[in-house]
Amino acid sequence: MEVFEAVRTLLAVREYADKALPVDVVDRIIEAAHLTASASNKQPWHFVVVRDRATLQRLGQLARTGPYIAGSQMAVVVGIEKASPLAVSDGSRAIQDMMLVAWSDGVGSNWVGYRNLPDEVSALLGVPSELEVLAIVPFGYPARRVGRGKKQRKPIGQVVSRERFGQS
Ligand SMILES: Cc1cc2nc3c(=O)[nH]c(=O)nc-3n(C[C@H](O)[C@H](O)[C@H](O)COP(=O)(O)O)c2cc1C
Repeated sequence: MEVFEAVRTLLAVREYADKALPVDVVDRIIEAAHLTASASNKQPWHFVVVRDRATLQRLGQLARTGPYIAGSQMAVVVGIEKASPLAVSDGSRAIQDMMLVAWSDGVGSNWVGYRNLPDEVSALLGVPSELEVLAIVPFGYPARRVGRGKKQRKPIGQVVSRERFGQS
């Protein structure tokens, strides 16, 4: 999929088909995170790749805003270094890269949580105390046809200016 097309059509997918993800697709998604650029190339992150069904179900119970993690085929728990002031930006880029790469292979995903996941998530996965969980990203083929490209966004003139703020 061409890059703009992936950006144009990417949507939050919260319902997943009971269909396994091919190994090469999983590898590409994880490699996308691994390859993402970070400030000063510090790479202040760690990605825990969860595919075990019972663990996915537990994550779905723990993530208040993402119970649907339980039905995903894989979830990547994104840990970022607490000591790094730029880690949120770096981790967010990695999440977006994973989501776009997944989508280019027809795999849906969504972003769950924002530094507000309960400590039980770290405890469950053995994430060390130097890291905090930024978010969890569940992946899977969409259970239903999703409205590719149908986005609810503010009018472009409201969020983009030409040369000077407020100039359309
Ligand atoms: C930082 C961030 C946090 C988000 N947290 C959640 C979340 O906890 N649960 C959820 O279901 N969606 C979450 N989302 C997904 C957004 O709600 C979704 O992308 C947005 O409503 C736009 O919908 P669309 O992606 O389908 O266009 C989050 C997105 C971002 C960027």
